[in-house]
Amino acid sequence: MKFTFKKALVTGGAGFIGSHLVDALVDGGCRVNVLDNLASGKLSNLDQVKEYITFYKGDIQDQKILDKAINGCEVIFHEAAVVSVTKTVKQPVESALVNEIGTLNVLDGARRHGVKRVILASSSAVYGDSPELPKHESMTPKPQSPYAVQKLSNEIYADLYSTLYGLGTVCLRYFNVYGPRQDPSSPYSGVISIFLTCANEKTSCRIYGDGKQTRDFIFVKDVVQANLLAANAMALENKVFNTGTSKTTSINHLWQLISDISGTRENPEYCEARSGDILESAANINQISSELNFKPEFSFKNGLALTWKWYRNNN
Ligand code: UD1
Repeated sequence: MKFTFKKALVTGGAGFIGSHLVDALVDGGCRVNVLDNLASGKLSNLDQVKEYITFYKGDIQDQKILDKAINGCEVIFHEAAVVSVTKTVKQPVESALVNEIGTLNVLDGARRHGVKRVILASSSAVYGDSPELPKHESMTPKPQSPYAVQKLSNEIYADLYSTLYGLGTVCLRYFNVYGPRQDPSSPYSGVISIFLTCANEKTSCRIYGDGKQTRDFIFVKDVVQANLLAANAMALENKVFNTGTSKTTSINHLWQLISDISGTRENPEYCEARSGDILESAANINQISSELNFKPEFSFKNGLALTWKWYRNNN
C-alpha cells in the first residue's frame, strides 16, 4: 500500500499490536517514531526494525517526551494503554491516568502539532454484554469495566477534538486480536496465546465453561491493515469502526484446531465458567468494509498456523 503520509508516530510501538504496525510502516517506506514506556512492551519486538526507527522511551502522560515524539509526524497510531482489563479493575485510577489522561495528551499533542489524523485503538469491550449480535457501531455502548469506560471516553474525546479543533480521528474497536508476540503470561492473556503455549509445552489447557462460547478472532496483520487504511483514507473525519472478521469460532473448536496444527493429544480440563464471561461475540464489519474497503486477508486457519509457528520458534 502506498501511504499518503511520510512520517508517523506509533505510541505503544513496542507492544504486541504496535510493533506489527511499526513493521508494516517501515516496510512501506514511512519514517517512524515509536514512543513506549516498556511497561508491557518489549524492545525485542522491534529488533528487526531498530535501525529504521527513532525510539523514545517514555510515557504518554509525559507531555515533553510526547512533544518530541510527535514532532514532524502527520499521523499518530495510538496503541499505548493498560491493556489488561483485570488490572483496570484492580487499579481504576492509575489505569485511567494512562488510558484517559494519556490519550487526552496524545490528542492534544496532535492538535498542537497540526497532525492530520490520529487512529485510536478502541475495543469491542465498549459493547458490554448486550446479547444483540453481531455488534454494530450504532448500538448503545454499555461498558462493564474501567477499561471499557476508558476506551469509550477515548472515543468521545476523539469526537470532541474532531468537532472543536478539526482533528481527523478514527477509532477502531478491536475484537479478539491474536498473533505472534502476544504475551501469554497472565491467566487473562488472550486465549489463543495461552492455548498455543500449552500446546508448545505439551500441557493441557483449561476451558472455562462448556467451551461453546464463541469469539470473533482477528489476526494482528489484519488489524494493521485496518489501521493503515484508516490513516490513508481521505475525507474521513471522526469515525468509529468495528475491527473484526464477522466470523466466529468456539473455544472447543479453537482447541481442536490447535491440537491438529501442533499434534498435541492433551485433553482440555473443563473448569467453572468465568464470572462475567460473555457467550458470543461477533462484529458486523459492513461499515469498515464499505468505507475503508477493509477485507480480512487471513483465514482463521492461516492466521493460527502462522501464530503457532512463531510460538514454537520463540518459546
Ligand atoms: C476480550 C478481551 C477483553 C475485553 C473482552 C470484551 C482479550 C485478551 N481480552 O476478552 O479485554 O474486555 O474481550 O470485549 O482480548 N478462555 C478459556 N481458557 C483460557 C483463557 C480463556 O477457556 O485459558 C475462554 C474465556 O473464558 C473466554 C474466551 O476463552 O470465554 C476468550 O477469552 P479471552 O481471550 O480472555 O477474551 P475475552 O474474554 O473475549
